[in-house]
Amino acid sequence: MKTYRVGIVGLTGIAAAPPDAPPQDSPLREPMPPSHAAAYAVLPQTRVVAVCDLKAELLDRFRLDWQHVWADVHTYTDYREMIAHESLDVLSVVTSDHCHADIVVDAANAGIKGILCEKPIATTLADADRMIEAVERNGAVMTVEHTRRWHPLYHQARALVRQGDIGELRVIVAHLGGPRAMLFRNGTHLIDMICFFAESEPAWVFAELDPGFEDYFEYRGDGGRDPAGDPGGSGYIHFRNGVRAFVNCRRGTCKGFELELIGTDGEVFVGNEAAELWTKDAQGRLGGRFLVPPLYMKSHILGAVEELIHLMEHGGTGISTGHDGRRALEIIIGFLTSQKQGNARVELPLPR
Ligand SMILES: NC(=O)c1ccc[n+]([C@@H]2O[C@H](COP(=O)([O-])OP(=O)(O)OC[C@H]3O[C@@H](n4cnc5c(N)ncnc54)[C@H](O)[C@@H]3O)[C@@H](O)[C@H]2O)c1
Repeated sequence: MKTYRVGIVGLTGIAAAPPDAPPQDSPLREPMPPSHAAAYAVLPQTRVVAVCDLKAELLDRFRLDWQHVWADVHTYTDYREMIAHESLDVLSVVTSDHCHADIVVDAANAGIKGILCEKPIATTLADADRMIEAVERNGAVMTVEHTRRWHPLYHQARALVRQGDIGELRVIVAHLGGPRAMLFRNGTHLIDMICFFAESEPAWVFAELDPGFEDYFEYRGDGGRDPAGDPGGSGYIHFRNGVRAFVNCRRGTCKGFELELIGTDGEVFVGNEAAELWTKDAQGRLGGRFLVPPLYMKSHILGAVEELIHLMEHGGTGISTGHDGRRALEIIIGFLTSQKQGNARVELPLPR
């Protein structure tokens, strides 16, 4: 078995947190690795050989937390130096939302064949395009870490839709609330999941951003920390297959991450922890509510890492490609464009 040499850039919790103690409350739950490092630690074929952050204290923290697994890990403050010295096979890019592009492009150009890039893929379409171009030109694989794409619950819900349990999917109503309901972070998760279920390309959108963001026409955030730099908003997506999606990503609403998939013969409601199927009775009323039990398996970041290695070894199309990541970003940029044009309808794809 080949051992893959792994590097990680950006060492906050999602990159480097050690696993929690196994939960005691349910025999169904397997502890899921909470970070990129924790996922690599589970897999026998991956070894983290080097890590990088601008902050020395995060390098020290990483050494401390992971010395029992990777005692000889090398630490860097310059990712280019790390790439030059470490013969990496795989790189996790876990830097702030607007700092993914240069690292991905440099990694692909340096010959790194597997790149796990955090979401959103980027904060401008120009950045997303040069990332995808560099990855494809160099024959590398890039997976965009929209985490729910590896969650069995969402696959179970999509299987219900695909097998016709709700008839023909017509409408998706999606909600992300709470104080950090921002479009780039974490509206990108919600919009990506809408695309996951719609299974079509977006044709046009319109949107209204949160109060205070009336003149917000391009990304002005700090990478995801400060909600003041990243608006929430309500929007509409019309997909080419006729599916209509309503996006509510608004601060000042209840915390939650929910999708309602409405078909001609029923509905699937997908929350963060479980999904419900409602089907139509003979009188056309919704009834017969069934719980779809959540399965906890190898999912989330571990699913993403396993899939990345599989794609590197066997080829194929991943479940969360650069193009998937770009689609979610284009919808968000489409929302900003709609705001700029007085909340008007914006045709997609946007001009390059
Ligand atoms: N998939 C998920 O569920 C999930 C959850 C949390 C965060 N994220 C994503 O993970 C990424 C990181 O999130 P965060 O909240 O930790 O971001 P952050 O901005 O708080 O931290 C980013 C880290 O990257 C480091 N960094 C930035 N540029 C660097 C460079 N050029 N070289 C080396 N280090 C650099 C910073 O010093 C910092 O420690 C974001 O893209 C975010 O959206 C995803």
